[in-house]
Amino acid sequence: MKTALITGGAQRIGAQIAQTLHNDGYNIIIHYRHSKQAAETLAQELNTQRNNSATTIQAELSNLDDIKALSQSIERLDVLVNNASVFYPTPVKEATPDTWYTIMNTNLMAPFFLSQSLTNVLNKTSGCIINLVDIHAQRPLKNHAIYNISKAGIAMMTKTLAKELAPNIRVCGVSPGSIIWPENEAELTDAQKNKMLNKIALGKQGSALDIANTVLFLANSSYITGQIISVDGGRTLNQ
Ligand SMILES: NC(=O)c1ccc[n+]([C@@H]2O[C@H](COP(=O)([O-])OP(=O)(O)OC[C@H]3O[C@@H](n4cnc5c(N)ncnc54)[C@H](OP(=O)(O)O)[C@@H]3O)[C@@H](O)[C@H]2O)c1
Repeated sequence: MKTALITGGAQRIGAQIAQTLHNDGYNIIIHYRHSKQAAETLAQELNTQRNNSATTIQAELSNLDDIKALSQSIERLDVLVNNASVFYPTPVKEATPDTWYTIMNTNLMAPFFLSQSLTNVLNKTSGCIINLVDIHAQRPLKNHAIYNISKAGIAMMTKTLAKELAPNIRVCGVSPGSIIWPENEAELTDAQKNKMLNKIALGKQGSALDIANTVLFLANSSYITGQIISVDGGRTLNQ
């Protein structure tokens, strides 16, 4: 049975990726950091659909010991989805080393070292790694310098690992445009949301399912590696 690990898989886009890969027959390992209840509820739903098809695992991915423990607990893996991420503004004038490390460690260091430590198990299945990037990896979002840099890093990581881990492991990326509005400290005003929506050629936000279907497509595309697909409703046409 093919197995997929989705980091940050308890909520929002990660939860939809878990559900979509599960519908395609994958067994799912749902990683979470704080969202224990949501992760367990999702695993229960998936296990109701198919017995013993979903488990949960907790890890703080900015911590290398947690990454090591998580990797060592995994015996079989076909797809690693590096989805977990943090997103909030860091205007250059206000950025601090703490915000740098928080964002870079979660968004870039963790996917790199998780990929490194799962190479052995992915080699055994000729598996793949799929990274959640962002269209702002290419064209920056104002006042989000550290986030932009972290996503530019994971875009390059996708290509460099695709080269180095071939021919046995494929590495691809999905770059979402506007899919689910950010929450908490990154929340947008209605005016900011409208400004963003006006730049999307297809005139609306995408859905988590749009992203999950692209992850599934890449997971099952055995002759694609090193590619990053933008799923942005044509937003980059107007950036
Ligand atoms: N939402 C969008 O419209 C959009 C647009 C462009 C790109 N993306 C990218 O698509 C992916 C999913 O987006 P999203 O909005 O669904 O993500 P999200 O809700 O911001 O974050 C997903 C999960 O990441 C986990 N996480 C954060 N920091 C962590 C850490 N230090 N260690 C372990 N887990 C950590 C959290 O898990 P817990 O809840 O368990 O703590 C969180 O639920 C992200 O990579 C994002 O950058 C999203």
